[in-house]
Amino acid sequence: MNQALQAALAALRRGEAIGLPTETVYGLAADAGNPAAVRRIFALKGRPADHPLIVHVGGVEALDHWASDIPAAARQLAAAFWPGPLTLVLRKQARVPDEVTGGQDTVGLRCPDHPVALALLREFGGGLAAPSANRFGHVSPTTAAHVRAEFGDAVPEVLDGGDCTIGIESTIVDFTGETPRILRPGMLGRDAIEAVIGPVHEGATAASPRASGMLEAHYAPRTPLLLLPRAALAREASEQQALGKAVQVLALGELPGGVPGLALAAEPASYAHDLYAALRELDGRGANLLLAERPPEGDAWLAIHDRLRRSAAGAGGYAGDPT
Ligand code: TXA
Ligand code: MG
Repeated sequence: MNQALQAALAALRRGEAIGLPTETVYGLAADAGNPAAVRRIFALKGRPADHPLIVHVGGVEALDHWASDIPAAARQLAAAFWPGPLTLVLRKQARVPDEVTGGQDTVGLRCPDHPVALALLREFGGGLAAPSANRFGHVSPTTAAHVRAEFGDAVPEVLDGGDCTIGIESTIVDFTGETPRILRPGMLGRDAIEAVIGPVHEGATAASPRASGMLEAHYAPRTPLLLLPRAALAREASEQQALGKAVQVLALGELPGGVPGLALAAEPASYAHDLYAALRELDGRGANLLLAERPPEGDAWLAIHDRLRRSAAGAGGYAGDPT
């Protein structure tokens, strides 16, 4: 075991929180079996205490330690996609601290597909409660430097596992209702899930367990963000500039001529990989307004639409889309 892993392990055993790389986004991880350690995560993030955390585990063999009454379909999904960007919401075992579940009788479980996270979980033995390593409501981190920028000295141990390969948060599937339901879309899409377990519902209902990633305003840069069709980008940018606003544009493929900003690849996996880093970069340029080009429709872009819509919800809005 290398020195960084050893230091992280020692910090976890002391009940501290560490920065943990995963394939989706970086987590702020602490011992899921230690209520005081879990409370520390909430304090660091500024997150309301009734929002549940995902418990990260080393593999499918950990399912029964944390969850009870596990449906066969949940086991099939875990077998098919773990390690990977899939979180299962299941009935919890009595041993799961209320601090982890926000007092609910369900628990979210995920086995991350990242060599550093898996090595740490193997050595640690227990589960790691970890939300994304950002302050509540802010853009999720996809590099170790992002985690340091969020927390500085308050989180001294940040394991550097490079850029997150996927770049947006896991797909959450709830198995505690009558039929499986996707509570939060991710890059593991509905088709892939349905190919394994058959039809699932999509979207939270009033009866669904709470998921803070489902709050309308979330994943947000500090600068107000407005989503627009490509045809409107250049005109909106120049109108805003005429009003004296400093504008930055996030485009697909290439930037329209004459506007400041940056462009991401017009392909969903690559776009997801770069999205949060791009939002942080643009946020750092001192603009008054960010204008983002609306991605294409289609299932492959669904999770990206979800994150952009929530990023925009606090400020500008999601022009031209009723959902
Ligand atoms: O990809 C991910 O899922 C990342 C990495 C670090 O694993 N984690 C992540 O955590 O996005 P967080 O806390 O930012 O978002 C987890 C979501 C929240 O919306 C939370 O409410 C939901 O999972 N969640 C956790 N446990 C739950 C439960 N028992 N019932 C319903 N939702 C739950
Ligand atoms: Mg989060």
